[in-house]
Amino acid sequence: MPDDNVIVGPGDDAGVYLLYADTALVETVDVITPVVDDPFTFGAISVTNSLSDIYAMGGTPLTAMAILGFPSCDYGPEVIKEILHGAVKKLGEAEVVLIGGHSIEDQELKFGLSVTGVIKKDRILRTQGAVPGDILIITKPLGIGILTTALKGRKISEDELKEVIELMLTLNDRASKSALDANAHAMTDITGFGLLGHAYNMVKDSAVDFNLSFDSIPILPRVMDMIDSGIAPEGAYNNLKFLKEKVSFPERFSEENQLVLTDPQTSGGLLISIPEESLIIFEKGSIPFYVIGKVEKGKGRIKVS
Ligand code: CO
Ligand code: CO
Repeated sequence: MPDDNVIVGPGDDAGVYLLYADTALVETVDVITPVVDDPFTFGAISVTNSLSDIYAMGGTPLTAMAILGFPSCDYGPEVIKEILHGAVKKLGEAEVVLIGGHSIEDQELKFGLSVTGVIKKDRILRTQGAVPGDILIITKPLGIGILTTALKGRKISEDELKEVIELMLTLNDRASKSALDANAHAMTDITGFGLLGHAYNMVKDSAVDFNLSFDSIPILPRVMDMIDSGIAPEGAYNNLKFLKEKVSFPERFSEENQLVLTDPQTSGGLLISIPEESLIIFEKGSIPFYVIGKVEKGKGRIKVS
């Protein structure tokens, strides 16, 4: 039976359910496998990643429940303790409280959270809604999936990944706040589908196209080297396969470049569509941001030039 209080159902970054007057609940869940060796850091990254979908709606997270899948023959209880320590520390930074959770025996270590927050009914930033003339910005550089894959393959050390780990630990809270201040028309976070996959979700079946300029898209150091030596997660290839017909690339645009744009990000940045005159809000602010393209009238396609 349809419920009138459901403002945003499945398919967006998070679901939104109207509670009373203009206040709604915003809810999401995300679980990931380890992207780093250190359990404390993994717990904190997983929190940052799970909170991101709330920020991607423009919401304020309040409470979280932990979800742990745990192979008890491979890891001891001190590993769980460290994951939870890291998680609680990061939740504290975001002023979110852990109010429960559940663990199950699993073949592979997994950790994530379901998160509940609040959002004003008329200030919801959905994935769709970009307007021709808008500027597109992202708030974190790309290549996280490729570099964490390189770490798993021992092609790069955790020490060399400091900058990337810092990035995965950076909450999208301030970026989300800036987007609201900038009266953004649409927003999502860049995660498993890569930049192009999430960009496509913003335009599909709509009357706009995204025109992205490859040269203005920030890429983390060493990412291109890693791709050149054959390191890219399977997800990047799968995303590319799915997007081939939906994206137009420049002539002779290498597969390496295409793979960066479809690289799945863990705890990636926000992709925001803002009116051009609002760019000043980001220019005056202190969070990193990169203008990567613009929105045009169209048929729900992505053009990379
Ligand atoms: Co999302
Ligand atoms: Co999500």
